[in-house]
Amino acid sequence: MSQNDDYIPAMGNFSLTFLYDPLMHLAMREAAFKGRLIEQARLAPRQRVLDVGCGTGTLAVMIKLANPEVEVVGLDGDEKILAVAQKKIAKSGMQITFDKAMSFDMPYSDDEFDRVLSSIMIHHLSAENKVLTFKEIFRVLKPGGEVHIADFAASRGQMGHLASHMINLLIPLGHQPKDSLMEIMPRAGFSDVKDHGRFFTLFGTIGFFIGKKLADG
Ligand SMILES: C[S@@+](CC[C@H](N)C(=O)[O-])C[C@H]1O[C@@H](n2cnc3c(N)ncnc32)[C@H](O)[C@@H]1O
Repeated sequence: MSQNDDYIPAMGNFSLTFLYDPLMHLAMREAAFKGRLIEQARLAPRQRVLDVGCGTGTLAVMIKLANPEVEVVGLDGDEKILAVAQKKIAKSGMQITFDKAMSFDMPYSDDEFDRVLSSIMIHHLSAENKVLTFKEIFRVLKPGGEVHIADFAASRGQMGHLASHMINLLIPLGHQPKDSLMEIMPRAGFSDVKDHGRFFTLFGTIGFFIGKKLADG
């Protein structure tokens, strides 16, 4: 089932990984949209949280700083970017586990996590791998758990359209969201799927999405 051949790293090219954090900071206002994603997830002490496609670990670190009593696990398929994440937390003394694995074939048991968060990762996946990934997210979530996604989404308004064109021209970022998460997430089993709004960045419009794994599902 796993599809490895179309893997797209963070910057579209493994050799550009070193540019990722500065670019995110300058062009994407990452602290603002990642902070909004964390707020949306309404985390509680002792919950287990998985960050899928964690990259350099910025979201995982923000989750832990905002919620020290939450257990955070980051998963990414690129060991080079995970080395950057490990380095980031090494000095801080923070406890975050990083696992190298593919989003559509996760090394976790069923019903392990209270929340799964993912930030600007889903657009890296082919249509087929998006569905497989959401099925995996559904599997590893506990009944009653929630997935919270921030990713490039269909823009609203002229500035949003312009920014979407810019990102397509500048970086080969992969599979842009012609297929809506609002359709894919229910196909993977999620209920109460909601579009939670938009956030403008220089590199495109970010959409926020929520899905629930029903407690009695
Ligand atoms: C644009 S980066 C986003 C990183 C981080 N979530 C953030 O918001 O800064 C996308 C990440 O997804 C990872 N990725 C892409 N396809 C993946 C897959 N199938 N499984 C796991 N990770 C994947 C890449 O290695 C990269 O680190």
